[in-house]
Amino acid sequence: MAAGANAFFGPRKTIDETLASTELESHRLRRNLSTFDCVVLGVGAMVGAGIFVLTGQAAATEAGPSITLSFALAGVVCALAALCYAELAAMVPVAGSAYTYTFATVGQLVAFIIGWDLVLEFTIGASAVAVGFAGYLNALLDQVFGVTLPDAITAPPGDGGSVNVFAIGIVLFVGLLLIRGIGMTAKATITFVAVTIAVLLIVLAVGVTEVDTANWDPYFPFGFSGVAGGAALVFFAYIGFDIVATTAEESRNPGRSMPIGIIGSLAIVTLLYMLVAGVLTGMAPFKELGGDAPIADAFKDLGRDWIAAIVYVGALAATLKTVMLLMLGQSRVAFAMSRDRLLPERFGRTHAKYGTPHKITTLTMVVVAAMAGFVPLSTLAELVNIGTLFAFMLVASAVLYLRATDPDRERPFRTPFSPVVPWLAIAGCLYLAGTLPTDTWIRFGVWMVLGLVVYVLYARGSSRVGEDRARESS
Ligand code: ALA
Repeated sequence: MAAGANAFFGPRKTIDETLASTELESHRLRRNLSTFDCVVLGVGAMVGAGIFVLTGQAAATEAGPSITLSFALAGVVCALAALCYAELAAMVPVAGSAYTYTFATVGQLVAFIIGWDLVLEFTIGASAVAVGFAGYLNALLDQVFGVTLPDAITAPPGDGGSVNVFAIGIVLFVGLLLIRGIGMTAKATITFVAVTIAVLLIVLAVGVTEVDTANWDPYFPFGFSGVAGGAALVFFAYIGFDIVATTAEESRNPGRSMPIGIIGSLAIVTLLYMLVAGVLTGMAPFKELGGDAPIADAFKDLGRDWIAAIVYVGALAATLKTVMLLMLGQSRVAFAMSRDRLLPERFGRTHAKYGTPHKITTLTMVVVAAMAGFVPLSTLAELVNIGTLFAFMLVASAVLYLRATDPDRERPFRTPFSPVVPWLAIAGCLYLAGTLPTDTWIRFGVWMVLGLVVYVLYARGSSRVGEDRARESS
């Protein structure tokens, strides 16, 4: 497939050029990750504030007990997208995920836009989960240790405080871990994922003995539209499986690890979420699940204080590692963009000793910390889902495009029933995005227009690919 150069969409990299870019000595990532690491990364990135906070809130306000079906619906949309991600991540195992695939398909302009969109997804997502972490830490100090800190240091200006100190602290801590290197991070992640899963299994084992089936009646208090609205909200809980694709370049055997990591982690998490949602809505009337720590609250209300304490610990472990993995994904996307010089190239240089993109990680850390410290959770959370749905749609489109234009390339994993599955993924994402509020669409539009301005004023002129094309044609 020849590299295209189109006046509007900008130059396009071929897949061979994309693969060759990983050979740049100063911008090379280490291949450290096994297939097991990839599954753990996927589970680790997903299980966070979504299941520990949003499940209860979405049950209380959107879906009632049928929130379990909302998880199934959102899980199906994610599974369709995951099958598309798996094909591309195995075929083009280069850091950057959707950004990289789009560069090789539509071209530089849309690639930049999707990269900009992923920056939004991961940066805001990490900030939102950091705020979730801080909320649980405050609740733990308050409920278990009797230490109540003033709002001034536990809430941002919009929420009656001055700064969220714990949220900033966790982001700085995680950022420093990431700079030290992904090998260590993967090991740390395994420990955190094990704690998180163990706590959710305890929730299930004890919670099931407390289920009162009367709480499941009525099952659809808000009708089917409640199931769909709930799905658009709890979609947040699935954000993160695409992180596996962003680390493809650091995987030892991407052809095998990418599909198993992406699809395997999503399957495990979907099952876990549906079971937890089913048990939680059976433990308490759904209207009582709207607090900041709904799972812990449900156990406390049943007199199970010890289990509530364990839930606090699980939620802290879960949110901490999710912040870590979303920041990891963010730094890898920005790394790929700076290697292509769509962002300043010096950001993309890897550390001589640790082999990590330390400059971009530092920048990510500063931005995520600032947002987590000074912006309310609700404002952050609203924006994340729409950006992710948009990225999923572009990935599914890239599968369709590459099947048509480059059918003979080796595909270690093939999306089954193509083109039906990619088209269904696009339709599912559009459907969920359509249920999000207008304000969210407007904010998303503003962010994207800002990206377009950066592209026109900076990225287009400095692009490595653009420069190569200009040299070739002169
Ligand atoms: N899926 C991640 C969470 O639920 C973002 O925290």
